[in-house]
Amino acid sequence: MNIVVLAAGMGKRMKSDLPKVLHPIAGKPLLGHVLDTARQLMTNAPATHQADAIQHPKSSGQLVGIYGHGGDAVPNQLKADDIVWAKQEPQLGTGHAVLQAVPYLDDAHPTLILYGDVPLTRLETLQALIAAAGSDRLAILTVFLADPSGYGRIVRKDGQIHAIVEHKDADGATRTINEINSGILVAPTAQLKRWLQGLSNNNAQKEYYLTDIVAAAVRDGVPIIATHPKDTWEADGVNSKVQLAELERIHQRTIALALMEAGVTLADPARIDVRGSLICGRDVFIDVNCVFEGRVELGDGVRLGPNCVVRDSSIAARTEVFGFSHIVQSIIGVAGQIGPFARLRPGTELGEDNHIGNFVELKATRMGNHSKANHLSYVGDAHVGQHVNIGAGTITCNYDGAYKHLSIIEDDVHIGSDTQLVAPVTVGKGSTTAAGTTVWKDVPPGSLVMNSKDQIHRSTWKRPVKAKKS
Ligand code: UD1
Ligand code: CA
Repeated sequence: MNIVVLAAGMGKRMKSDLPKVLHPIAGKPLLGHVLDTARQLMTNAPATHQADAIQHPKSSGQLVGIYGHGGDAVPNQLKADDIVWAKQEPQLGTGHAVLQAVPYLDDAHPTLILYGDVPLTRLETLQALIAAAGSDRLAILTVFLADPSGYGRIVRKDGQIHAIVEHKDADGATRTINEINSGILVAPTAQLKRWLQGLSNNNAQKEYYLTDIVAAAVRDGVPIIATHPKDTWEADGVNSKVQLAELERIHQRTIALALMEAGVTLADPARIDVRGSLICGRDVFIDVNCVFEGRVELGDGVRLGPNCVVRDSSIAARTEVFGFSHIVQSIIGVAGQIGPFARLRPGTELGEDNHIGNFVELKATRMGNHSKANHLSYVGDAHVGQHVNIGAGTITCNYDGAYKHLSIIEDDVHIGSDTQLVAPVTVGKGSTTAAGTTVWKDVPPGSLVMNSKDQIHRSTWKRPVKAKKS
């Protein structure tokens, strides 16, 4: 199979400096969705929206991306060793775009044309189109629309496809046809090449229309078949921010349905955003407005409160994350309690039964089983043992202005409220720091550490009083 993805167009209506096909849906460029679908077709992998093709298994056939508008940004962002890029400059129409791919197309296999700005076509839909084309037919994905204006119309004679006429070239009668060209098609490659050479730009837009190959196929007696997607949005392109948002919602709905099919309970399937892959165990509950980015794994019985953000992290079985927690590149063990309002930054590794409470920030910190930091603390670059309690307002002073240093808090330590640990420092096993202690020297095991300070009482002191307004 040869696959050509058209992505040279300009996307003026996006009103953006970013090339249209690089705008994201579910955190991935539009074109990235199309390329991943193309790769699945080539490898015959089963369709799944959870599998993000990070590594591309060996595929058969040729994948060609046509770029142009936006310069090298498109191939730079989506470069991979299984795709060749051909530049189309200037952009003289869809037929001219496919012409740029001709040197790379293998005549022994048919060619599938996809659009880089049509991101949500189902794998099964394309497989059916490819099957309909076989090796010697032209197959076109068409859609019936209540409002077909703007699109190329499918003109039939005695039921057979006879031509595609662009809206701008269509007369009144043709414009009433509501079967439209999605643009996605499969053609026998040798003929396609010949048809492309024969295109002219003698039309309303002075463009080389790919759609004119239909009339050429009719002349050559090549059978033309139409197939249709299950849902019309599979053929929807993105031309504006409104359409981008519409397809984002459709895609998120598809992901939410798949999660629920797999047994996940969603408080509201309309209020979850998955931008990457979310893998869930049994009996997972996700409250409203949670956002998942990158690769996230939730173990059996995990519960997430409302408004949590989780990126590239795993949360093990039975852990509960309360609302408004923010978790990035962290590994959380079983039966923990996180949040509300907890912030777990990269390199956080929690054990079993950890409690991380409100306004606690952890970074590059390992914590042993049954340890807790329940309130208002910063613990960064730390190794925390088991059964440790970190009191409210504790701060690891890990940064000396040039370097980061490690704080080691051994098993069974009690860190009193408002302790500062000036790293590098070790608090030995079983020790206690008194409230308000600044610890800048290592604390031996089994001891109490405090700073000498006085409590002073001044009975003559008067609190200032505001003068009364006259
Ligand atoms: C095209 C079809 C039309 C169909 C519609 C579906 C033609 C002549 N018309 O219309 O029948 O109903 O799509 O949306 O094919 N592109 C290039 N280089 C170019 C021009 C376009 O790479 O010179 C790419 C665009 O990036 C885009 C795709 O081709 O991915 C379609 O371009 P667009 O301008 O949206 O197509 P239309 O002319 O609107
Ligand atoms: Ca379009």
